[in-house]
Amino acid sequence: MSYRITLLPGDGVGPEVTAAARAALDAASTAFNLGLSFDERAFGGAGIDAFGAPYPDETRTAVAAADAIFLGAVGGPKWEKGGPRPEQGLLDLRRDLGVYANLRPTIVAPGFEDRSPLKADVARGVDFLIVRELNGGVYYGDREEGKTRASDLCVYTRDEVRRVARVAFEAARGRRGKVTSVDKANVLATSRLWRAAVEELRAEAYADVELEHALVDAMAMHLVTRPASFDVILTENMFGDILSDEASVLSGSIGMAPSASLGDGKGLYEPIHGSAPDIAGKGVANPIGAIMSAAMLARHSLGRDDAAAAIERAVAGALDDGLATRDLGGDATTTVFSNAVAERLA
Ligand code: NAD
Ligand code: IPM
Ligand code: MN
Repeated sequence: MSYRITLLPGDGVGPEVTAAARAALDAASTAFNLGLSFDERAFGGAGIDAFGAPYPDETRTAVAAADAIFLGAVGGPKWEKGGPRPEQGLLDLRRDLGVYANLRPTIVAPGFEDRSPLKADVARGVDFLIVRELNGGVYYGDREEGKTRASDLCVYTRDEVRRVARVAFEAARGRRGKVTSVDKANVLATSRLWRAAVEELRAEAYADVELEHALVDAMAMHLVTRPASFDVILTENMFGDILSDEASVLSGSIGMAPSASLGDGKGLYEPIHGSAPDIAGKGVANPIGAIMSAAMLARHSLGRDDAAAAIERAVAGALDDGLATRDLGGDATTTVFSNAVAERLA
């Protein structure tokens, strides 16, 4: 087998963490004979600078030919002064790929509870998966942008809810069998549709999975008071964006959080953090979110659990050795951490 991986490093720390993900995939490719080849393309702010568009045509062509796509991060102050926005490229990419289910796992590893901003007893045992709807909602509704009035329309269809809910129920079956669906059904029509569609699908096909509903405001609280009580958290696009940043720091830093965006075709893999303009170019970004996203790529796009598990073990081993970037209180650079992971894979 051979696979073509298109890398979209993007902006800020994006290229720094993408290099780390590439190094891990490269080492895994050699060790497990994965037959990976890579090509890097301009995207986001880098796409605007090189071609005048965040998702340039030549990048589209490469994405179309790829077996899987890895993205670093996009955006930054340079592109906030008017003109095309890097983030729009990402929304277009997710829509074009039809990756409607965004998986964002959070795990507090045993022994590392003290990295959490929460009390160790609260953080202990945290192991949940956020399944974020990624192709609909307020991100994709009609937008009106005026000087005195603006609007962003939030739309969901029953089928859009069902297809992502199915991913959550299936994931729960392979885990601890519980789904918490998060909405704002006390106020929003889209949330009432969401809740009804989730209930309906469960009754049809997933009666063995435990289902509870939570309102998003209370959920923001539960995530810091009893995070270990959740298994799979299913939610719409914007709530998932917000809750996943909150969840990511339970393990110590947003720099550790990976994601896989899946649909019916090829997958997109990205750390959940942004371009981190405050630390970009300093070589101190935590590459773990990117490297763990590479592991998700191996698992979901290559079907290689062995390579994925090896990448995950290499990260855990480097942490066990005491290596850590600045956000985790250590002094390892991005490259030092990344090299340690690649060496363990070799
Ligand atoms: P951010 O995630 O870039 O940064 C938030 C904080 O987390 C900062 O203090 C940053 O230094 C820290 N951080 C982020 N990644 C880190 C890493 N790997 N290691 C150590 N620390 C890390 O969020 P922001 O500052 O709100 O957004 C900056 C830009 O990134 C914006 O333009 C935003 O639109 C964009 N963004 C892009 C993505 C993406 O490409 N998927 C995601 C989120 C934000
Ligand atoms: C993320 C980011 C993106 C989102 C932005 C950059 C469009 O915050 O991947 O979490 O909101 O989905
Ligand atoms: Mn986000």
